[in-house]
Amino acid sequence: MPDDFERMWADLAPVGRSATSGGYNRSPFTAPETELRAWFVEQCRARGLRVEGDSYGNVVGWWDVGAGPAVLTGSHLDSVLDGGAYDGPLGVVSGLAALDLLRSRGVAPARPIGVSVFVEEEGSRFGLACLGSRLATGAVSWDQARELRDRDGVAFGDVVAGGASSSLLSSVGTFVELHVEQGRDLVDRGAAVGVASEIWPHGRYRFDFAGSANHAGTTRMEDRADPMLTYAFTALGANKQARLAGERATFGRVSVEPNGTNAVPSHVTAWLDARCATEESLAALVEGITTQATDRAGRDGTALVVTVESVSPAVAFDAALAARVAADHEGGDWPVIPTQAGHDAGILSAAGIPTAMLFVRNPTGVSHSPAEHAELPDCLVGVSALADTLERLTR
Ligand code: GLV
Ligand code: MN
Ligand code: MN
Repeated sequence: MPDDFERMWADLAPVGRSATSGGYNRSPFTAPETELRAWFVEQCRARGLRVEGDSYGNVVGWWDVGAGPAVLTGSHLDSVLDGGAYDGPLGVVSGLAALDLLRSRGVAPARPIGVSVFVEEEGSRFGLACLGSRLATGAVSWDQARELRDRDGVAFGDVVAGGASSSLLSSVGTFVELHVEQGRDLVDRGAAVGVASEIWPHGRYRFDFAGSANHAGTTRMEDRADPMLTYAFTALGANKQARLAGERATFGRVSVEPNGTNAVPSHVTAWLDARCATEESLAALVEGITTQATDRAGRDGTALVVTVESVSPAVAFDAALAARVAADHEGGDWPVIPTQAGHDAGILSAAGIPTAMLFVRNPTGVSHSPAEHAELPDCLVGVSALADTLERLTR
């Protein structure tokens, strides 16, 4: 089994890797991500799994054993821009490796098992995170999804066949996603693996700041309507509000028009990613940031429009299932911990599918970065925890 995991991990390592940063660019339907999904289909076929795809790009490899509702595992193969190797692929590779491990243990599952790949989990290209799983569960309609556009104006509807609905998940009774931890909770607890209790509610909000283009030299400072200034105060204010409340507010993407060194810009668009422990505190944080930004715009002579792009409600994973997944591994129970990161598991859970998540320790806690990492021995503990879970759930 270690060989299988390492061999698969070595297959993926070069795909979409930047020679300069060492990070990964695996946006959906670009060459690297398409290559990864083709690799996944090959791996499924090599294991005799029945491959089923839907018209959105989601794929499942089915081990058609037993009868009744299936247990699905898996994750995603796309990355954020210049992301790490583990966020997504660890869950897919571990799913295949866990299946190999069950077979090598001679386990005969009483229910079918599937390994899934959901497309556009990060929303790095079309802006809506978990797009594939939202479509597969019906949380987003095809009519909404087809109009989502990437930075070059290409519509999602132009890159997939699409259609009204997907039956990919119709036989799924339980979903288990394994994922690299994206914080340091497991490091602090000294545990190789943990189980998710909940996902913080979070959202994406577009801030459009409009001002007036003008000369950087001849325009007196007091005569400007500079949207960059309003944006800068907004980013500082958002950071302070979130920091004081123990919440998260991030402006990680900005676009400036016309983006010239010697001109006051005419327009700044910035995207806020906000996350809080409760839906009420999330709404209050976004309102607080918007109020401060609007006030600042008034003083700068600029105009602000805030557009809610997506809001993902709080997810409380099935507590009994989490306890069952966490119980009695290598002499103890895995810790059950919350996360501030979004996942396809949250979408399936919200769709009423009993869902659990396993996390694998990340020694630095760094994620969405080339520095994201998990040690091989921890990854292998994750694979056997996943195999144990699949075995328990398909007895
Ligand atoms: C996905 O990784 C997210 O939490 O943004
Ligand atoms: Mn991610
Ligand atoms: Mn992920």
